[in-house]
Amino acid sequence: MPTTISVRTADDVERLLALMTLEEKAGQLNQPPVLDTITDEQVVAGQVGSVICAHTAFAGNEAHNRVRTDLMNRIQRVAVEESRLGIPIVYARDVIHGYRTVAPIPLGQAASFSPDHVREAQKVAAKEASADGIRWTFTPMLDIGRDPRWGRVAEGFGEDPYLTSVLGAAAVEGIQGERMTMAACFKHFAGYGTAEGGRDYNTGEITEYTYRNLILRPFHAAVRAGCATAMAAFLEVGGVPATSNDWLLRDVLRDEWGFAGVVVSDWGAVDELMCHGQAADKRHAALLALTAGTDIDMASYSYLAHVPDLVRSGALCPEVLDEAVRRVLLLKLQLGLFENPYADESTRDADQFTKASRATVLELARRCLVLLKNGGALPLKGANVLLFGELAYAQRELFGTWTMDGVPSDVVTVATALRSALSSETKLVETHLIDDAVSFSRFCDVAVVVVGESPNRSGENNSVTDLGLPAGQLDQLRALRRVGVPIVTVVVCGRALVLTEVEELSDAVLLAFHPGVMGGTAIAEALTGKVNPSGRLPITFPRHAGQVPVYYARKNTGRPTNPSVRKQSRYIDSSDTPLHPFGFGLGYAEVGYGDPQMEGWTASVELTNEGLADAEETVQLYLRDELSTRVRPLKELIGFTRVLVPAGGRADAKVEFSPDSLGYYGPDNRFVVEPGWFQLALGRDSEATPFVRFRLDDSGGIVEATPV
Ligand code: NOJ
Repeated sequence: MPTTISVRTADDVERLLALMTLEEKAGQLNQPPVLDTITDEQVVAGQVGSVICAHTAFAGNEAHNRVRTDLMNRIQRVAVEESRLGIPIVYARDVIHGYRTVAPIPLGQAASFSPDHVREAQKVAAKEASADGIRWTFTPMLDIGRDPRWGRVAEGFGEDPYLTSVLGAAAVEGIQGERMTMAACFKHFAGYGTAEGGRDYNTGEITEYTYRNLILRPFHAAVRAGCATAMAAFLEVGGVPATSNDWLLRDVLRDEWGFAGVVVSDWGAVDELMCHGQAADKRHAALLALTAGTDIDMASYSYLAHVPDLVRSGALCPEVLDEAVRRVLLLKLQLGLFENPYADESTRDADQFTKASRATVLELARRCLVLLKNGGALPLKGANVLLFGELAYAQRELFGTWTMDGVPSDVVTVATALRSALSSETKLVETHLIDDAVSFSRFCDVAVVVVGESPNRSGENNSVTDLGLPAGQLDQLRALRRVGVPIVTVVVCGRALVLTEVEELSDAVLLAFHPGVMGGTAIAEALTGKVNPSGRLPITFPRHAGQVPVYYARKNTGRPTNPSVRKQSRYIDSSDTPLHPFGFGLGYAEVGYGDPQMEGWTASVELTNEGLADAEETVQLYLRDELSTRVRPLKELIGFTRVLVPAGGRADAKVEFSPDSLGYYGPDNRFVVEPGWFQLALGRDSEATPFVRFRLDDSGGIVEATPV
């Protein structure tokens, strides 16, 4: 029978903490995986503080059965009713971009440039997962993705720290809700996306300047948004693995930012301190990680085995242990687990894959599609449309990486969706064989070819050296091109690919980062013109893999890129520009931009739409600091807005910014807003040109502004 103590407040948590043995404290910091191997004895002994409901560290691309809520409740009952102190377990799982109702992958969500739609989709995920008893998810991933060889760019919001900050905060708000439906976890803190060569888990090298101005910004935004937990990254930077990095986990995260939540290690990362060559054995690994500020040990069992003795021997300060345990108990309090530890098995089905959840996710999926090229082949017209391609009939593959709870049969394929979206006058000609596609194309008006990557080629530990389409697909496009039929290529993928030849071979290209359960429907709507594509690239698309890393916010260098000057920064075998810049995307209506204006801290522009389709335009505001104590990028996104411009109509777009938008981490790595001249560009992508120069005086006021 548990010691009766009702935990309703932080004071109650203190009383509980005072009753705990060292073994029980270590148990709260232990996060085992594989639910069905957890024994009652472990739970009764208080050794299971939380559980990651996954079977392997590579759960991201493996098919899974639905979580066993009955088993979770049964184990919870043992924890609550039979352990000495009755502390409930918190069940965690990687619910990354949707639970049963799978939303587009985060990189796709980023293409929406819509925090509202991201927030709503994450609310759906939290509702569905928490109904099954999952109260903690390891999302959002806020790593900056500038190297698409790294498979995990799929899981983040792209290359830009401002966009990642805005969408990351929205994701946190959606997951946690006002009443902490589910705890969010920002990850991987910090610098994981800098893995050398784009090879997952590899070493990174980051200066403090780059940490502060690029890598850390989205994490700081997530802290401000109230994110309850954080995950330390796998990688080692400058000789210190993130799991044992007290500068990151204590000085920055806790002391500077005031983060009071829980820090969890990545899977097995405490033990990996031995592989890094920093820890001699599991005991040493536990000491390094916990001392540095990693509160929970995911899947290493090293805290459980060694923390009590580390304290008894005097190696580990008891206050360090208490702080970590306190944070875990406070998380459980915040989640309401002391009062209501069980999931309701009788009602959980009612919350899965509902009409409303599908509608929410479809709204997001529609905004994630990016039209990369259109010579007029889209929207589809003509009496005979050929449909071909490896992904035209895909179901599970549309989910993308990290979908353990989607049900493939829920997915309407592109083929099925297109059959119903096309008018009765149009015949869809279908085949799985390229020979037949080539010969049928002779009597078709247009060919829709759906190509792209399997999710197994993106996500964790799926790094590539070749950014082209998977083997064979380009040959199929070449074969069709030889016949001459207009080609509409739909590219489904989890990263920025090199699409240079694909675009040469195609009359139109529609990009769908793995678009989730409603993706087939969204693609068919875009192809037929029911929806006007409005997504914008959250990551630069290179012309050639050798250009990587290539991103818009580059610095000028001492020898700025200029193709006509020899001794400048350039390649001799390729153009220096990417195929498509960050922020790029077309639509079916040409949106005209008037002359941008600046009034105080607001930039505005009049938009006109002379087309036949309503357009949702993403207007982007970029800053250039002309002169600064430390070198800054040529352009930095500091704001954006999505505006509906009705067909034949007009709309005003306003983007606000603030003195802080002009600042950066400069000398001594302190945040500073330096007076002087700045430029603003307002436009449809990161190639927008400046329209105004303005001067900021010493008191932070704008004193002069001149049009450019
Ligand atoms: C490893 C991944 O790096 C991390 O993102 C994930 O949350 C954990 N495994 C748990 O599955």
